[in-house]
Amino acid sequence: MSGPLLVLVGPMGVGKSTVGRLLAERLGVAYRDTDEDIVAAEGRTIADIFVDDGEPAFRAIEKRAVRTALAGHGGVLALGGGAVLDTDTRELLAAHRVVYLSMDVEEAVRRTGLNVARPLLAVNPRKQWRELMEARRHLYEEVATAVVPTDGRSPEEVTRAALDAL
Ligand code: S3P
Repeated sequence: MSGPLLVLVGPMGVGKSTVGRLLAERLGVAYRDTDEDIVAAEGRTIADIFVDDGEPAFRAIEKRAVRTALAGHGGVLALGGGAVLDTDTRELLAAHRVVYLSMDVEEAVRRTGLNVARPLLAVNPRKQWRELMEARRHLYEEVATAVVPTDGRSPEEVTRAALDAL
């Protein structure tokens, strides 16, 4: 199989970049993150892209970034929380080893709190989290080869569980 050794999916704030970096370190491979690729390529923040161009434009940029990273990166790759919304992306992911880092709604609210830097959670975080999780949980499950719950676990514990699940 070519492409990433391991792809991480899951909701924003679940710890994909922290755990992804730890996993890459343990496995002795490089870490890459599609959100970072997008910011570097666009020269502006994700929040700015949402505000200036809207979510559909961001999703189109994200779709291209995910396709490029899946084809050109051999290490650990973390995807933005909404990347799995795209059907073609989910089909591409079927050929990869994908770990879904999961958390429940209360853990999500506790972790991200009132973090308005995340454009999808600017108002009423608990209600929006519930809706996001309901809309996406099955998409994460669809692409996952392993599910690693993160509730109440430290990044080191999640990393160990992910390595065990491989
Ligand atoms: C999003 C998640 C974010 C980022 C954007 C949209 C989402 O990525 O791509 O704000 O739709 O869940 P992280 O999951 O890396 O925070």
